Amino acid sequence: MTDSLNRVVNALEQVAKTSLVWKRGLINKGGPHRVLSGTLLPISIGEDECTVFGRLIEQFRPKHAFIIGNAFGFSSCYIADAMRHHGGEKVITLDSEVEGRGQACAKVARDLANKLELSLLVNKKGRSPADTAWAVENNQQDLVFIDGDHSHPQVTRDFESILPFTHSKTIFVWHDFWWSGILPCLKVAQTHGLRWLWLPTSCEMVLGVRDEATFTKLQEMFPDGVENQKAHSPLFAPTILAKEYIRQAWETITEPIASRLNTSKRTLGD
Ligand SMILES: C[S@@+](CC[C@H](N)C(=O)[O-])C[C@H]1O[C@@H](n2cnc3c(N)ncnc32)[C@H](O)[C@@H]1O
Repeated sequence: MTDSLNRVVNALEQVAKTSLVWKRGLINKGGPHRVLSGTLLPISIGEDECTVFGRLIEQFRPKHAFIIGNAFGFSSCYIADAMRHHGGEKVITLDSEVEGRGQACAKVARDLANKLELSLLVNKKGRSPADTAWAVENNQQDLVFIDGDHSHPQVTRDFESILPFTHSKTIFVWHDFWWSGILPCLKVAQTHGLRWLWLPTSCEMVLGVRDEATFTKLQEMFPDGVENQKAHSPLFAPTILAKEYIRQAWETITEPIASRLNTSKRTLGD
């Protein structure tokens, strides 16, 4: 798990300049997360959240994984790197390249996968749900990660578009439970027989599966998980977002000053 994280972080440092955000976690302790330097979005999952995938992959050894929302490839490269060491065969990502500097992100994702020689990873450009059936190459996905547009009903559409390509033991992972689209999707998932477990990671991950024995195993593996976690208060997400906008505005103002100060310090030191 740590090996995969070190490999991905080291390779990312070689292909792009990134900055750390939410160094100690956003909602819960965890993080750090990453952005491409000079951009505000998209933000990767936290390092603590990578280790959740690492544990899932070590335990369940998924052969096929499908990811909606790839950004600059941090989570997909981690997942693919961990899977190739545990018998994984294919990881497909689908990203519409709409967030932030989408095309630049997609290039970093490709460079990162190449640097890590992740031949099992295929990144596809397209929109969920319209392009999911085209992108998915196998109707037996073992691991699904939904991390695209987190609004309602987009998350539910993402889920419903990939559901026909899964089986009873497929593990679904959602990121950002605190966003408005996740809980309505989880309620729909329940009508399809899924049970789900909220995890206190930096941005609140959720794991879901239909198979009872697999769900019991997830509960054993993540004893601090909460089944059917309650929604946050209606003010929670707006407050987090407001704080986030302030943080981003502050960084937009101070980053050029900080980098100019660093340059002059370096010049003086020369
Ligand atoms: C939060 S980022 C993904 C982060 C990535 N999972 C990681 O941790 O490295 C969300 C991504 O979803 C993409 N996206 C948004 N709506 C989408 C849609 N309907 N279909 C496919 N991708 C979408 C955005 O372009 C963005 O790159």
